[in-house]
Parts: sequence; C-alpha cells; structure tokens
Amino acid sequence: MSQSSQPASPYGTLPPASAPATRKPVSLPRLQEMHARGEKITMLTAYDATFAAVADAAGVECILVGDSLGMVCQGLSSTVGVSLETMRYHVESVTRGVQKVQGTSWIIGDMPFGTFHESKDQAFRNAAVLMQAGAHMVKIEGGGWTADTVRFLVERGIPVCAHLGLTPQTVHALGGYRVQGKTEESAALLKRHALELQDAGASLMVLEMVPAAVSADLTRAMPHCATIGIGAGVDCAGQVLVLHDMLGVNLGKMAKFVRNFMSEAGSVRGAMEAYVKAVKDGSFPVNAQHAW
Ligand code: KIV
Repeated sequence: MSQSSQPASPYGTLPPASAPATRKPVSLPRLQEMHARGEKITMLTAYDATFAAVADAAGVECILVGDSLGMVCQGLSSTVGVSLETMRYHVESVTRGVQKVQGTSWIIGDMPFGTFHESKDQAFRNAAVLMQAGAHMVKIEGGGWTADTVRFLVERGIPVCAHLGLTPQTVHALGGYRVQGKTEESAALLKRHALELQDAGASLMVLEMVPAAVSADLTRAMPHCATIGIGAGVDCAGQVLVLHDMLGVNLGKMAKFVRNFMSEAGSVRGAMEAYVKAVKDGSFPVNAQHAW
C-alpha cells in the first residue's frame, strides 16, 4: 500500500521507506560534539520495530532498549528478572525497525541484571551478544566496581553508557525506588563514581532520580561523558523517558517528573516530536518537578 493511500494511523505518518534519508546516522563523535556545544541529546526507550521506527522518524537521537521492558512489556514487578535472551530479541527488533525507515538513531542495549557482575569476561561476552543483535552501545548500571568493567569493554571497542543514581536492578538493596544523592555524603559518592566512569571511558551516563543541583554539577564536571537525566532536572546534557510513561499508557503510578506528551499531541509520532522539541528547547523537564 502506498503511503498516501494508508488510512490515518494512531502512530502518525512515517516517511515512505523509499524517501531519501534526510538526517545522517547518529554516531559517537556526533553525540560528543553535541555535548561539547551544549545541544541537548534526546533519548527514548523503545522495545519493538514499529515504535523504534517512529522514534527514528521523529528525530529521537538515541533509542534505549531498556530492561524497563520487563515491567512495561512483560508485566514483571521489577527489572531484575529480565534475561539476556529477552534483551537480544528486543534489540534485534528495534534495530530492524530503525533500519526500515531512516536508520539514524543510535541504539543502546541495556545489560540486564546478572550479565556483567561475575567478571569482565562475562560482561564482554554478553555485551557482544547485544552488539551483534544491532546495538551501537551497551548500558551498565552502577558505580564503583563497574568502572573496571566499563574500561575493559571500551578498550575492546564497545561504547558504554553508564547509569547512576537510582539503579532499578538494585531496587531491593536500595529499599525502593528512591531519590539518590540527597545528602552531602551520597552526592559526593555519586560524583566520585561518575568521574571514575568517565575516566574509564563511558561516553554517556544516565542519571536517574538525582536532585537537579547534583546532576547539574556532574554535567559541568564531565566534559567527556554526557549526562542523560530522568528525574534529574533540566541541566543534564540530555534527557530520557520510558516510552510508555510519555505516552501515558503505563499502568503504574506516574512519577512526578514524567510528562504525558501524547495527551498534548494526539499521535505517537506527534508526541515523540513534541518530546524532542521540548528537550531541545529546555522546556522539559521543569526543575520545580524535581524539588526532591
Ligand atoms: O531500562 C530503562 O528503560 C532505563 C531508563 C529508565 C533510563 O534504564
């Protein structure tokens, strides 16, 4: 069916597959340049081919195939039960979706719980599975001991996105989904871990549920590693949201830092484009919503 004869779709309209790509594929040097010149980086989770294709067409620079899929796709109560095989399947699906349209988005595969904890060799073996499934980068939760693992992967040609603050894979140790880095001591530890990860070669770093002032300080302190905030204030180098949250279809309680872009836009593509615009112009997030 040609694009023009397609019925109106709740996903919005994708450019026809034959359309010439209008944007260059996102690369690591490009993300680093964006960070250097202060252009905000947009990241959104996606787990299947269709939503990934729409995100790509909407101009989302980074697609995170997050292990949050355990909660939003599999109905688990935390991300702890997600397997490497499940992640591989979803990374492959997302990769096919991105390649189908413009093929510009940078794809990040999340390393699930238990797949990088034993040894650096185990981490490399499992990261290779996600890279061979189509990921351009892997994401690893946690600080401290993870720095050696990050260095090991980066030295072997695997770009790494770190993840500090609230790390959902350790929810049981943290005692719940709580804001991290609220005290002077915990903010100092967070900064130490962040600088170690930058030094180890991590080029992106998700900061989840961290006070806005703390993530602003980390962003300034890390010229070589771009912070990507979620519930971490507007002064990060970029932002990430879980797809189901920003579309307003998550069954759980909506975190106060989330904005429902779907209700404003009326189509999935419109919601994603509005998200990209709001992150780029700094109107999302609003720091007052992060007064933890
Ligand atoms: O798994 C995920 O989707 C994530 C984001 C919440 C950053 O880690």
